Amino acid sequence: MAEATMDKIVSLCKRRGFIFQSSEIYGGLAGSWDYGPLGVQLKNNIRDFWWKEMTQMYDNIVGLDAAILMHPKVWEASGHIKNFTDPLVDCKQCKSRFRADQIDLEAACPNCGTKDSFTQPRNFNLMFSTHIGSVEDEGSLIYLRPETAQGIYADFKSVVQSSRVKVPFGIAQVGKAFRNEITTKSFIFRSVEFEQMEMQFFVKPGEDDKWFSFWREERLKFYHKMGIKPTSLRWHQHGPDELAFYAKEAFDIQFLFPMGWQELEGVHNRTDYDLSQHQIFSGKDLTYLDQETNERFVPYVVETSAGLTRNVLMALSDAYEEQTLENNEVRTVLHFHPAIAPVTVAVLPLVKKDGLGEVASKLDKELREDFTTFYDQNGAIGRRYRRMDEIGTPYCITVDYQTLEDNSVTLRYRDSMKQIRVSMNQIVQEIRTATKNYKRVE
Ligand code: GAP
Repeated sequence: MAEATMDKIVSLCKRRGFIFQSSEIYGGLAGSWDYGPLGVQLKNNIRDFWWKEMTQMYDNIVGLDAAILMHPKVWEASGHIKNFTDPLVDCKQCKSRFRADQIDLEAACPNCGTKDSFTQPRNFNLMFSTHIGSVEDEGSLIYLRPETAQGIYADFKSVVQSSRVKVPFGIAQVGKAFRNEITTKSFIFRSVEFEQMEMQFFVKPGEDDKWFSFWREERLKFYHKMGIKPTSLRWHQHGPDELAFYAKEAFDIQFLFPMGWQELEGVHNRTDYDLSQHQIFSGKDLTYLDQETNERFVPYVVETSAGLTRNVLMALSDAYEEQTLENNEVRTVLHFHPAIAPVTVAVLPLVKKDGLGEVASKLDKELREDFTTFYDQNGAIGRRYRRMDEIGTPYCITVDYQTLEDNSVTLRYRDSMKQIRVSMNQIVQEIRTATKNYKRVE
């Protein structure tokens, strides 16, 4: 079994239409990526899986889709204008810019090799700014949100007043975020435009530690349910020097990416910091009245904050395998959980003649009601299976001459490559059951 290197994943993503460099025909834009036909489906499936697990499966979490552009005071209140910075140095010779905490300032410039060429470190704000309206002045300056969370805090009162939610409750949101990252290596791991899946859980002060433990457990279980190898996931607790300016306690779920262990998701105890700040800056009362006890308080917040685009890289890295088969052929296979695989079922007539193509095409159209399908009638069947393995399609259905006699088809499972005969009337149920009971076979 060969290792999943980043180069292999990047190459497969480009070759099969998962992910492309943004504006590639113009030489590309650093840190910006486009999701191709299979990539957007994979990303949407992960998003939908998260949304279902984080809203539908709990009776006290509601959804929100706040605007990317917000009032600039939001970012003053949240502390991002003052504190959301990286320490940067420039090389005076070649003008390259580096994160001061990621290079040896005593060494030569990694780009041009000049010694003693770095400027003094200075803080560089990661927020992208733009202007709203027709006049470009101080008064029209706004920011692209660097996290989705602030939209949730700004709407906290509206949600409480309109949705009959009671503390403890959560607000979930998926959306784009933007950061002017200087180090954008490692493919889509760190990009300037990315997507987050965040949930802010509002609790009574004093109950935050209990809920913090609860959400840590729930979030790890989520990745197990998504079929990610448990040995590739671990916890990392933030030390005092790593804690974000708003956090009392923070743990990252790390994943073993091809370049090593790295953050996948953060679970943070943000205390009442954000709501209190928004009270001060907006002048609005953001307290919550507990109607049973008549107590009024600013809720504490336990946040679960996952990168959706980083989840895509995790899913690809976790799924990628090169297997050497008995005949020494190497098969590249993506072991996606069927719930997130971009194509669920491939329908393949053994040959297109003798009416097999028509039967298979009709079956494909029927299956589209229930699954994302792919119809392929060209080339040797073995090669068609390999193409489906390489994009992670968990089920292949083959229509052959026996189908014309008894209405049965061959169902092939991607991971085990086992094939069984199933009646066409039973195929939807068979795939549903296999997906529900899916366990990864190495
Ligand atoms: N609201 C809290 C927050 O934004 P964060 O640790 O800065 O916390 C949360 O970000 C998650 O967002 C990270 O764990 C990561 O998955 C994702 N993320 C952050 N910056 C990213 C970037 N530049 N590119 C891709 N994903 C990023």
